[in-house]
Amino acid sequence: MKSIIPAAGLGTRFLPGTKVTPKEMLPVLDKPVIQYVVEEALAPAEVDECIIVSSPSKPQIASYFTRDPGLEDLLRSRGKDVYADAIAEAGSVPVSFCYQSEPRGLGHAVRCASFATSGEPFFVLLGDYVVPDKKILPRMKEVSDAHGGASVIAVAACPADEVSRYGIIAGEPVGAVADFPGATGDEEGAVWRVTGMVEKPAAGDAPSRLFAVGRYLLSPRVMELLSDQRPGAGNEIQLTDAMVRAMAEEEFYALVIDVHEGYDTGTPAGWIATNARLAAADPRFAAAFREAMEA
Ligand code: UTP
Repeated sequence: MKSIIPAAGLGTRFLPGTKVTPKEMLPVLDKPVIQYVVEEALAPAEVDECIIVSSPSKPQIASYFTRDPGLEDLLRSRGKDVYADAIAEAGSVPVSFCYQSEPRGLGHAVRCASFATSGEPFFVLLGDYVVPDKKILPRMKEVSDAHGGASVIAVAACPADEVSRYGIIAGEPVGAVADFPGATGDEEGAVWRVTGMVEKPAAGDAPSRLFAVGRYLLSPRVMELLSDQRPGAGNEIQLTDAMVRAMAEEEFYALVIDVHEGYDTGTPAGWIATNARLAAADPRFAAAFREAMEA
């Protein structure tokens, strides 16, 4: 089974910071955002490879995941084995690349990796969204397995007055994952049967307050539907549009996660918040972080 990581977007909301450094390469603490995503993508036992959809203008991502024996040797000769090991590890993960020649939307980026999925279900992980504890994908797989291999998306609850910023699901709660028995409604661990998705609804019109957060486990049918998916909002090929078409044909589920379980690093504010939360929780950085905040 494959994990697809779209990472070919323009990163407009983080300019000028992303003019020459892709947003997926910005470090969170001591490693780039995309390394967290790759580690998470490879966590489920069923996943044997992850495919990064990159852009020809972002060669740094492929460089990062390539061994650099010269640098490794130099570091070792200087007694810096810990750093040599860290870069060797980044160059050894089972990652391959395909390229989206121009950013034509998330659905188009996923479609660029269709050659790799060979008619099997696949995960999609947005390349700028970090989930440090890596528990979401295995739970999504559990939900899919319980429903005959159905598609499952991760969703989180937003305040009712913020629904107009997101893609909101319609549907009803139908159960819970094993780690959260009895969870229902908007609670972490609840499972919903999804019947539709509404982009940026007005507060009064929203069918729920659960929004898609950037983790998907999709059936092969979604990839088939993407192949002839027409451009939608923003004249881009939208993954949501293909998912909504799939919902008319087959069962589709959502797993509710805690909104604080994942971090969107695609804007300066989100990236700063991600660094702050992870620094405060990491024994290597917590003291320096607290001292800086209290100064
Ligand atoms: P975003 O919409 O957050 O990324 O897509 P973006 O388009 O780079 O952001 P802005 O609006 O310009 O600031 C989520 C993920 O999907 C990838 C992005 O790289 C990001 O990791 N993506 C998006 C693609 O790979 N191709 C696309 O055409 C669009």
